[in-house]
Amino acid sequence: MTEPATTATATALKALRRHLSPRLALLLGMNGQDSLEVRASGAEVTLSDGRSVLDFGSYGVALLGHRHPRVVAAVTEQLGRMPSSTRVLANETLPRFASEVVSFVGLAGLTRVWAGLNGTDAVETVLKLARAASGRSRVIAVEGGFHGKSHGALAATSSPRFREPLAAVLPPVTHVPATADAAALDAAFAGGDVAAVIVEPVQGEGGVRPLGAGLLHELRRRARDAGAFLVSDEIQCGLRRCGPPTLAGELGLEPDAVLLGKGLGGGVMPLSAVVASEELYAPLRDDPFLHTATFAGHPLSAAAGIAAVRAVAEHAADGERVARRMEAGLATLRERWPEHIAAVRGRGLLWGLEFASTALAGKVFADLGPAGLLVSPCLGRPEVVRLFPPMIATDREIDRALEILDTTVRGAAAQATVQAPFRAES
Ligand SMILES: Cc1ncc(COP(=O)(O)O)c(C=O)c1O
Repeated sequence: MTEPATTATATALKALRRHLSPRLALLLGMNGQDSLEVRASGAEVTLSDGRSVLDFGSYGVALLGHRHPRVVAAVTEQLGRMPSSTRVLANETLPRFASEVVSFVGLAGLTRVWAGLNGTDAVETVLKLARAASGRSRVIAVEGGFHGKSHGALAATSSPRFREPLAAVLPPVTHVPATADAAALDAAFAGGDVAAVIVEPVQGEGGVRPLGAGLLHELRRRARDAGAFLVSDEIQCGLRRCGPPTLAGELGLEPDAVLLGKGLGGGVMPLSAVVASEELYAPLRDDPFLHTATFAGHPLSAAAGIAAVRAVAEHAADGERVARRMEAGLATLRERWPEHIAAVRGRGLLWGLEFASTALAGKVFADLGPAGLLVSPCLGRPEVVRLFPPMIATDREIDRALEILDTTVRGAAAQATVQAPFRAES
């Protein structure tokens, strides 16, 4: 006999509370209104209570939606043959993935690939490579950038919330403001010893904030003059999420490495990649055991990656259609609610709605799920709610998402207005 859904939910949330985190259990329970995610297909997720919700969130992983047939077929084929690698024999899947991702990125000189499972793996690897290849230790990053939460990656992430508990032991990274002038950049590069400059061309977690082309080119120039490598972290904004295959390519930045992740595994498998130049990759080319991990380059992930990269290229026109409809719809939404929506930022399939207050953004986020639309919060900028429409969303799905947003903003704003005097007095 199958357990009733409510019992299954209660059991799952109890185990989450007991073995993971009570706060996480509370949050996920509230988001799902005490039901679980159980199935997904395309842009839709089905919950254990039978409801279907649109997924414009998943922190950007579902670029191709859920269970894209091409990715599922590739992973199933690999699963039926040989899911894991002996790691002492070559297989055909990982090198094929490497060739595919190099051609997808399509930037002169970026011919070497290291495949990991999370974006953080890619950041760790590239910073380690930059330090090993240059013999230097410092990294320059930009305020508002997010690069992951392991020691090395966290050092490059600028959010005080995540850095503070470990600030004393993080490797040396200097953060420059996104509005840095020449004097601020001079100060950051002064003293030399710079191994890498890492940039996130559109800062996703930082509130969907594009960095200015002027700053990016200036950092490129100064990195070159300082003999440092330039790394474009496109784990969130690359892979056609913002339109082009890479933003570094679109901007002509000539990076020494591009990092990809999230949707790279097709929304089916975990996968990330460092796509690097010969010079940056030299330490690994010379000693391939310098940086290894048991599951790095996992055949199931590599198989998913081959299919995903091809599917992303095939769906490029779909992505443009979704982008145009979202852009127009969000502009209308902002016009309708100018006092509640302070700004709409983004491009392509990555959008940030900045609300008039953190409280309103929190209320909208909490209400959207129950209303039928999943989105992602910005942990570093709680006043911003992020939307990641998948490339494969239909016009009807986009219109439904926009309608849900409209109704939810209206409802949340009305409640916030009613509550405001009460809060002011208390
Ligand atoms: C730009 C960027 N870099 C790195 C990361 C870390 O990736 P992951 O969470 O897959 O380790 C993220 C995750 O959101 C990201 O957005």
